[in-house]
Amino acid sequence: MKVDILSLFPSMFVGPFSESILKRAVQNEKVEITIHNFRDYTDDSHGKVDDTPFGGGAGMVLMAQPIVDCVERLKTEDTKVILLTPAGIPYKQKIAYDLAKEKHIILICGHYEGFDERITSVVDMEISIGDYVLTGGEIPAMVLVDSIVRLLPGVINERSHLEDSFNENFLLDYPQYTKPRDFRGQLVPDVLVSGDHQKIEKWRYEESVRRTKERRSDLLQ
Ligand code: ADE
Repeated sequence: MKVDILSLFPSMFVGPFSESILKRAVQNEKVEITIHNFRDYTDDSHGKVDDTPFGGGAGMVLMAQPIVDCVERLKTEDTKVILLTPAGIPYKQKIAYDLAKEKHIILICGHYEGFDERITSVVDMEISIGDYVLTGGEIPAMVLVDSIVRLLPGVINERSHLEDSFNENFLLDYPQYTKPRDFRGQLVPDVLVSGDHQKIEKWRYEESVRRTKERRSDLLQ
């Protein structure tokens, strides 16, 4: 998969993409990630990428030209263009599964008070990572990349994502334990040390359902 990210702050991505599973996925060529500073695409001789809003109001609005030109340069017929914005559709695991099947995605990180609506003429999908407002789309773009790349074939143990989906029905994870068996008087449930794998699977599934009902009953609708 190819991922192009359009941002005014490319150095924000250095840390998250150079550690752990994402770093390995890049090294093993499971994903190719390129960060583009769309300031490089502005027609303005002073490098301007934003201006005051028509109709008045506080703050600056990202201009359409630099972003649209940058997208048009990178886009092919196989590209899905995604704009990160709090006004987008709520991001869900199901969307991560769908996006993991794409060949090429472009992620546009908005900033400041907003963006010129005409940017959406080159956008296929607007996504929000939650009902709160961040300072820009960079952290949301990292969230998408992380959640999508872990689903790409060969990036992590396939069982791990089978377990987090249970066939489309997203359930919360079951409780996990490691050594020691007794931590300050809190014991590991007997079933997990029984050696009976069928019983363990059943217990884990039931714990997932119980937790999901208790904490996130909306996921079971
Ligand atoms: N940009 C600012 N806040 C955001 C959010 N919650 N989701 C996606 N993009 C954003």
